[in-house]
Amino acid sequence: MAIFNLGSINADLFYRVPHLPAPGETLAATSFARGLGGKGANMSVAAARAAARCVHIGAVGQDGAWAVQRLMEYGVYTQHIVTSDTDTGNALIAIDDAGENNIILYPGANRDIPLEHVRTALDDAGAADIFLTQNETNLQREAAEIASAKGMRVAYAAAPFDAQAVQDVLPLLDLLFLNEVEARQLQEATGLPPEALPVRDVIVTLGAEGARWHNTDTGEVRAFPAVKVTPVDTTGAGDTFTGYVLAGLDRGLPMSQAIGQAMIAAAIMVTRQGTADVIPDLRDVQDFPAQG
Ligand code: RIB
Ligand code: NA
Repeated sequence: MAIFNLGSINADLFYRVPHLPAPGETLAATSFARGLGGKGANMSVAAARAAARCVHIGAVGQDGAWAVQRLMEYGVYTQHIVTSDTDTGNALIAIDDAGENNIILYPGANRDIPLEHVRTALDDAGAADIFLTQNETNLQREAAEIASAKGMRVAYAAAPFDAQAVQDVLPLLDLLFLNEVEARQLQEATGLPPEALPVRDVIVTLGAEGARWHNTDTGEVRAFPAVKVTPVDTTGAGDTFTGYVLAGLDRGLPMSQAIGQAMIAAAIMVTRQGTADVIPDLRDVQDFPAQG
């Protein structure tokens, strides 16, 4: 079994700043770092770190060989990443002293993925596999249709939020990942709260409040408490959560256990500066001291 993730690959440019910049303000960063990121790449690395087989489907520019190399080193299957003539995507990430961030995203090659390429990549996939996508590439709907027709479980993280994009894929989804803000935005767009969406499993992350899982088959709603840590950099924590949940399911864990591991992985991630390069592996998660 495997996870096939159609997702973005970015160069993340981190600027540590005393506060997030205001309009017209010139602000000196206290540190700068460059790393591998992109919501898609982060989720693929998280899934691989969580011991799942994860095949990444995506695109980089001519300048992106380093990113593919790193994904491979982190255990992601990279044979379905194409090179396009557009620049590799990148993200300018400002992080303040409280660990809060804002991000300017240049999608670049991520929005340049050919449909034929997605089709070919999914030739290797079957009904036992999971398809995952987010909103930083093109072709979400088309790819989800192909995956759904193969009987794959279709998972989607509604990030960055786009009301139209979510509604386009909604009828095809088995699993939907939302953060608190996205859940509210989706409710405004559809008039439906998460538990009333036509998706079997809806998982809403609530930051310091933990997470909630809605299962429409059973009508059950389960709350998971947050793991308490002091935030250093929240960037990539949500992506890590999603990758870990799906990896757990792919490894045959029940949803509640998969979410439990994902909560810890995301909490560790919040204590680390960086994105794909610092995602914890299953050992780190299992060794994490129990809280109570
Ligand atoms: O979710 C975090 C990610 O958002 C970063 O890695 C950045 O690349 C942007 O895509
Ligand atoms: Na982080």
